Amino acid sequence: MAQATVRAPRKAVIPAAGLGTRFLPATKAVPKELLPVVDTPAMQYIVEEAVSAGLDEILVITGRGKDAIADHFDRSPELEAALEQKGDLGRLAAVRRSGELASMHFVRQGNPLGLGHAVLCAAPYVGDETFAVMLGDDLIDSRDPLLATMLKVQSDQGGSVVALLEVPPDQIALYGAVASTPVSEELVRITDLVEKPDPAEAPSNLAIIGRYLLAPSIFDALRETPPGRGGEIQLTDALRALARSGEPVHGVVFRGRRYDTGDRLDYLRAVVRLACERADLGADFRAWLTEFVAGRS
Ligand code: UTP
Repeated sequence: MAQATVRAPRKAVIPAAGLGTRFLPATKAVPKELLPVVDTPAMQYIVEEAVSAGLDEILVITGRGKDAIADHFDRSPELEAALEQKGDLGRLAAVRRSGELASMHFVRQGNPLGLGHAVLCAAPYVGDETFAVMLGDDLIDSRDPLLATMLKVQSDQGGSVVALLEVPPDQIALYGAVASTPVSEELVRITDLVEKPDPAEAPSNLAIIGRYLLAPSIFDALRETPPGRGGEIQLTDALRALARSGEPVHGVVFRGRRYDTGDRLDYLRAVVRLACERADLGADFRAWLTEFVAGRS
């Protein structure tokens, strides 16, 4: 008998409608997702990560003041013509590349009512498929592939899969936290989730970071999720409903390099680290940085 084939996920949703208050005043007129990490907007790294994991249908959830995101991922005929005329083929290729990376779609959230609400805006686009959610300000170092591991877990276990990071206990209040049972060294089955718990009440120091593979049942769960922490509709609360109903929700414990580019300190770390490692800038920048740290520059 012919077996039904389950297609690997191919759609990614990037919520980018948040207000970016932690990075004001820079983010008053510029979306935080477009802040440059060296010379490339933070969100381009995320789109590249999606594409290299086979997710090349991308829906960005945007809001007011975020139109520049769509411009960045569009073609720019005038700019391309000017670079072509100057014979600047390197920059021409870079400009074209961001317009050709993936099939990009955009929808507006209207009111930033929370991450859960942003994900719910993707329901008509996603339909009845498992899909990825990748936060627009959460940068995973390309040398530490996380999505590929999550896709393998989802294919083996079904249901939904989230990325987890062990954080110091006093920082868990900044994240969603999970209660879980271990499956293997890097995999847990999640039994409960709490958004931004008080450290004394946190179920663990395993924090949810910005990569999710979600079963389409998340949409019904989100429709029934009332506003939670901060008066926002929380994705964590909808995932808790799935986990409690017995649907598989697994967590992959990530031990690689990750930066929250919506946080100023982490943003600076990302810029310095990626600049040091760039073939075109790294040697000069490292030399200057060594002098600077030694107080000689
Ligand atoms: P954050 O809380 O990190 O984003 O939300 P924020 O609200 O923009 O940032 P701060 O805290 O004010 O500095 C996590 C992700 O969810 C998106 C954000 O854009 C970010 O990628 N988000 C959040 C939405 O798309 N819509 C919302 O209503 C809320």
